[in-house]
Amino acid sequence: MERTTLVQHIRQEERTVPGATGEFANLMNEIMVAAKIISNEVNRAGIGEDILGLTGETNVHGEKVQKLDEFANNTFTTIIRRSGSVCAITSEEFEDPVLISPNEGIGKYIFMMDPLDGSSNIDVNVSIGTIFSIYRKKSKGQGVTNEDLLQRADQQVAAGYIIYGSSTMFVYTAGRGVFGFTLDPSLGEFFLSHRDIKIPHRGNVYSVNEGNTSDWDENQKRLVEYLKTPDTDPERPYRLRYIGTLVADAHRTLLKGGIFMYPRDRHSPMGKLRFSYEAAPMALIFESAGGRASTGDKRILDMTPTDIHQCVPLFLGSQMDIEIAEKFLSHAESCP
Ligand code: AHG
Ligand code: MN
Ligand code: MN
Repeated sequence: MERTTLVQHIRQEERTVPGATGEFANLMNEIMVAAKIISNEVNRAGIGEDILGLTGETNVHGEKVQKLDEFANNTFTTIIRRSGSVCAITSEEFEDPVLISPNEGIGKYIFMMDPLDGSSNIDVNVSIGTIFSIYRKKSKGQGVTNEDLLQRADQQVAAGYIIYGSSTMFVYTAGRGVFGFTLDPSLGEFFLSHRDIKIPHRGNVYSVNEGNTSDWDENQKRLVEYLKTPDTDPERPYRLRYIGTLVADAHRTLLKGGIFMYPRDRHSPMGKLRFSYEAAPMALIFESAGGRASTGDKRILDMTPTDIHQCVPLFLGSQMDIEIAEKFLSHAESCP
């Protein structure tokens, strides 16, 4: 049986880009290596050296850092910074960007990551992930400036996620379709398993932390009420699935359709999820798969962040489901 590996796929794609230097392919390969190391560690969690639990530190967002958060952050940072393909790395776990010095080998890409997504699920053997986003350096001269770090989301060169689930998958887009690769653990190789992923036009699953209902505004409450109310419309009531790992909830939504929501609420008026390394990369993936990504009233890919750790309300999903959500969130009185 002929099987395409992730490395082969990246090289094939590269050949279609005129003037490609190999720097992007090199970066993607390094991401893949880091992903394999983390996958291996995640699968061994609970045996051998103790990798579960807290480090005792708190990150820039005031969240308790888990050992796997730290391990994933260190692994990605070490591997990506020596790739020679990047000039800066930003991470959920670093307050400031990591700037690469000339003697380390500076490349033209900016790498942004949520090294370990779904921290609350680490200790209970539920899917966790990694999210990344890649931009090209825009500013002239040697230094890295806000022009490079705070680009409009539609300037992403590529975005992807790795899901450490019942199997480990690497899903990415470089703007020409979304491709999924599954890790064969016996060979240590990612093989193409999901070619040109397209999200269904409409789904029948909603995904949201409904425990926050009392903190939502009336529009958000009405939207969820609508989705779960039985109707002559055969899709309603929608079913509820919520894992609490963005990567896992987004992955299911991408393959099955429906809607994932993390709206603003009373405690988080800007939402909870981070623009640069959660919302923007997922937005590129969803749009490249024919879906949509919105704040509820704006397209995520049209937005430019003002801070590398900025939060944003996030709605990801099928075309029709995001349309329904936007109607409720903008004009409650004219809702279907
Ligand atoms: P992280 O583990 O990187 O901090 O991200 C957690 C995020 C995201 O994965 C998930 O969608 C969301 O937090 C879940 O939040 P709630 O527990 O508030 O539902
Ligand atoms: Mn996260
Ligand atoms: Mn994280």
